[in-house]
Amino acid sequence: MKYFIVTYGCQMNVHESEKIAGILEDLGYTECGSREEADIIVFNTCAIREGAEDRVLGNVGNLKRLKKKNKNLIIAVCGCMTQKQKTAEYLMNTFPFIDIVIGTFNLPKLGHYIEAVKKGRQLEILQEGDIDEVLPYKRTSGENAWVNIMQGCNNFCTYCIVPYVKGREKSRKEENILKEIKEIIKEGKYKKITLLGQNVNSYGKDLEPKVSFAKLLKDICALDGDFTLSFMTSHPKDLTDEVIDTIANEDKIEKYIHLPAQSGNNRILKLMNRSYTREKYLDIINKIREKIPNCRITSDFIVGFPTETEEEFNDTYSLVKQVRYDSIFAFMYSPREGTVASKMEGQIPDEIKHKRVNKLLQLEKEIQEEDNKR
Ligand code: 5AD
Ligand code: SF4
Repeated sequence: MKYFIVTYGCQMNVHESEKIAGILEDLGYTECGSREEADIIVFNTCAIREGAEDRVLGNVGNLKRLKKKNKNLIIAVCGCMTQKQKTAEYLMNTFPFIDIVIGTFNLPKLGHYIEAVKKGRQLEILQEGDIDEVLPYKRTSGENAWVNIMQGCNNFCTYCIVPYVKGREKSRKEENILKEIKEIIKEGKYKKITLLGQNVNSYGKDLEPKVSFAKLLKDICALDGDFTLSFMTSHPKDLTDEVIDTIANEDKIEKYIHLPAQSGNNRILKLMNRSYTREKYLDIINKIREKIPNCRITSDFIVGFPTETEEEFNDTYSLVKQVRYDSIFAFMYSPREGTVASKMEGQIPDEIKHKRVNKLLQLEKEIQEEDNKR
C-alpha cells in the first residue's frame, strides 16, 4: 500500500506532513513518487490567503480522474482549511470523490478514519486538541529536523485566520521537547534543529511553572552535540532582550531572526492589532544589530490592508529601505472570512495591491543587488 502527501503552506505544515507520513508508515503504507501510484493521497492544506485555498481546490478537483481509474484510491484532506467547518463541508459537498475530511487535531486518529471509509465518507473536525501526543515522525527535510514547541496563537492580528483554525497557544512541556531533541542528536543525521511555533517568543507562558523561551533556548544549547539551533516565527512584541542576548551569546544558535513587521505605518499597525509601533520595531532592530553583528534579518509584509493609503504604504516602503532586510516576503492582503479586517470598510482594489506588492519586491531586489555588489 502506497501513500502520497501534498503539502501547502508554511514550515509548520511541512512538519505536520512528516507526522502524517509517520502515522501512515506505522499503518504499513510506504511513500511513492506520484499521485498515480498511490493508494492513499493526503492533502495537507493551508488557509492563510485565498490564493492558497484556490490552489488546493484546483488540485483536489483534478483528482477526479484518478479516482475514476482506481476505485480503491482513498483521498483525504486535512490541515488549516478543513479546520473551518464551513469549508470542510464545502469540500465534502463539492467533491464527492473525497473520502476523508478531517481537522488537524483529528490526525492521531487517521488510521481509524481510513478503516471507517469502508462504511462511508468521513468528516470530523475537532476545534481544540492536545499537543503532547507522541507520534512517529518521518523526518523529510534533509539535514534539518523540525521540532514543534507550541501550537496556536493568541494574538488575533485582525487579518489572520490562524487563531481561528489552530486555536489558542499551547506550549509543549519543556521536558518533552528536550527528550525529542536528545533523540534527534542521538540519531546523528541532523546538523540543524529548527524550533517551530506561530509565535515562539511567547513559548511557555501557559506552562505551570512558566518557562521562558530564552530558558528553552539555553537548555537546548546545553545539550551535548554538534548542531545549529534556529527558530521561527518571532512576534516583535514578544522578542525580549533576554532572547536577543541568548542568540548573541550561544554559539549554537544561528544568527538569524525572522521578524515580521507587516507594515511600517502606525495607523495600519494599530488596525492590524500588532501591539507595536514603527519606532518600537526599529528599536528592536537596532538592538539586534548592536548585540548580534551580522545577524540576518527577514520579514513579512502585507500591502493593501483595508483603508491603507498611498502615503501609508510608503511608510512600509521606507521601513524596508531603512532596515535593508536580507530578504522579505510581501503579500497582498487577502480577506479571510471570520476575521475582523475582512469586515472593515475601505477594502483596497486588487490592481492597487498588485502595484504596491511589486514596488516592494522591486525595492528588495535593488537592495539585494547593491548588497551583492558590495
Ligand atoms: N492576507 C495576506 N497575508 C497574510 N498573512 C497572514 N494573513 C494574511 C492575510 N489575510 C501573512 C503575514 C504572515 C504570513 C505568514 O502571512 O504576513 O506573517
Ligand atoms: Fe496570525 Fe498574528 Fe498569530 Fe502570526 S501572530 S499567527 S499573524 S494572529
